[in-house]
Amino acid sequence: MTIAATQTFPGPAWGELPDVTPLETWPPTEPLAGVEVLLEAVVAVGPRELDLLPDLRLVANYGVGYDRVDVAACRGRGVAVTNTPGVLDAAVADLTLALILACRRHLVASDRFVREQRWQRGWARPELLGRDLAGSTLGLVGMGRIGSQVARRAEAFGMRVVHHGRSEGLPLDELLQTSDVVSLHVPLTPETDGLISRERLSLLRDGATLVNTARGAIVDESALVDELVSGRISAGLDVFADEPRVPERLLDLPNVVLTPHIASATVETRAAMTRVLVDNVLAFLGGEPLPNEVSA
Ligand code: DGY
Repeated sequence: MTIAATQTFPGPAWGELPDVTPLETWPPTEPLAGVEVLLEAVVAVGPRELDLLPDLRLVANYGVGYDRVDVAACRGRGVAVTNTPGVLDAAVADLTLALILACRRHLVASDRFVREQRWQRGWARPELLGRDLAGSTLGLVGMGRIGSQVARRAEAFGMRVVHHGRSEGLPLDELLQTSDVVSLHVPLTPETDGLISRERLSLLRDGATLVNTARGAIVDESALVDELVSGRISAGLDVFADEPRVPERLLDLPNVVLTPHIASATVETRAAMTRVLVDNVLAFLGGEPLPNEVSA
């Protein structure tokens, strides 16, 4: 049996796997017989890729989001899919708060202000006035594991937290109209693709901040760029619709903070994700139930 991987993953658990064959390209340039386990991150796995791995039995996805894996197509061919939930909630929540603070307190623009030697007078000037987190309203779209951790942190900063869930909480449009900061914490599915449409973006208050550490395609990206170019709202964006492509019109805007999908990128969290990935592979190799099998 061959275990193949699109890349290596950090942390000590990696060393517990038997031999892993690195894949030089993805998708493979020719059919690869004998590969039964695929370890992957951030690549598309659909019918075309599955055709190239005719013996595949397990796709172990590094990450909680598995929107690039066609789970139904895998299931149709008897291929199980696993992910790495539960270990990255705190890291993603931390980055969410970092983006909220960066946007509301003009952190990146302030840094640039100093570096470009534009700080010419004392501190009591009106440039770069931000907004208090305390007393402001945070609207969470999605109140699962990550949303709940964001809520705890935001409450510690004195924010009032409201949320929209599939079957509870505020209606989405009301949340958008009444929040100072909106943060997205839902997976990308056919239901959430484009959920924050142009019409919905227009519901945001003047001066509101949108934070996205979930998936870029949940928002109509070109409508978001239009709103940001107009200067009406600000945004903290860790994710984009077509990564690593970032819309060029965002690059010079002072009202947007951009990070390259780093929400789970801490040494501890990435090692914990590898632990979960490896546990699923070891369970598969031992013929045991898979701890984190996902369904379509
Ligand atoms: C995930 O696990 O899906 C995250 O996007 C990684 O940061």
